[in-house]
Amino acid sequence: MLEKIKDMLAEVEALQAKNAEEIESLRIKYLSKKGLITSLMADFRNVPAEQKKEVGMKINELKNRALEKINELRETFGTDDKDECIIDITRTAYPVALGTRHPLSIVKNEIIDIFARLGFSLAEGPEVEDDWHVFSSMNFAEDHPARDMQDTFFVEAHPDIILRTHTSSVQSRVMEKQQPPVRIICPGRVYRNEAVSARAHCFFHQVEGLYVDEDVSFTDLKQVLLLFAREMFGEDTQIRLRPSYFPFTEPSAEMDVSCTLCKGQGCSMCKGSGWLEILGCGMVHPNVLELNGIDSTKYKGYAFGMGIERIANLKYQVKDLRMFSENDVRFLKEFEAAN
Ligand code: DAH
Repeated sequence: MLEKIKDMLAEVEALQAKNAEEIESLRIKYLSKKGLITSLMADFRNVPAEQKKEVGMKINELKNRALEKINELRETFGTDDKDECIIDITRTAYPVALGTRHPLSIVKNEIIDIFARLGFSLAEGPEVEDDWHVFSSMNFAEDHPARDMQDTFFVEAHPDIILRTHTSSVQSRVMEKQQPPVRIICPGRVYRNEAVSARAHCFFHQVEGLYVDEDVSFTDLKQVLLLFAREMFGEDTQIRLRPSYFPFTEPSAEMDVSCTLCKGQGCSMCKGSGWLEILGCGMVHPNVLELNGIDSTKYKGYAFGMGIERIANLKYQVKDLRMFSENDVRFLKEFEAAN
């Protein structure tokens, strides 16, 4: 046994290799699980007791020397990594390229920031929701078309579980747990069963706002939205409210802002009208307050909801909605300065 170890030690000392692959096969030959040195260790069991100490020490010495030798050989080839690592010495060292925030995150954060300054706090709810929070508690009639399979994604085998179609569901999630005053802003992803095109996607993002308290009026809503529009699009921005319908607000309105491109003169973006639609809003329907456990004789509220992609489009003129979810680095890099 001692003789065998001595011979192997001499063999190890003389090891040579021409490249990293050869070093790796030497490592496997001597040191892997089925390697020569490992099998010597297995034979150690049969060594007579009085020789065990000496033989043990010699095997250890051999093993350490083999490890050292392999590492020495690796160093000669300028790498101590068993995967050959190629260093591109022509690559520019500085500045280090940093990642950029996604344009939708930039716009979302800006919206949150504006409303935070007005005392709105952040609330969130689940994307996989039940019918109650998305529709019933928001005063949608049983036969409302939005409940149709054509608009809503259902979770198979659970007719009651759906992907939320709007962030208005978070209104209900908050009101069922909290009595007024409630002043929240709820950003999040929503889903609709739409064919994907440049102008529509099966998922997009919204921000919902809700304020419920004792003396809340339509004037308050209008003033908050005017301030928001001016912070977001510039201080000369004008707004206009057009009557509309939503099941969860009464009265309801849609808000337009003066065109961010032509400043109201009329251009291709605003289709000559000078106005761009940006959100839906209204006074919270008394039924919604009651359905969510709030006394509608004591409290009133306003709500609004807007699409983040829509606002981002108006700010950055992104022509194709799909750009927002394709993660093309060339597109994302365009927003470096806005970070
Ligand atoms: N949930 C509406 C939608 O997805 C947007 C909306 C309109 C939200 C009016 C509101 C509101 O809170 O008051 O189209």
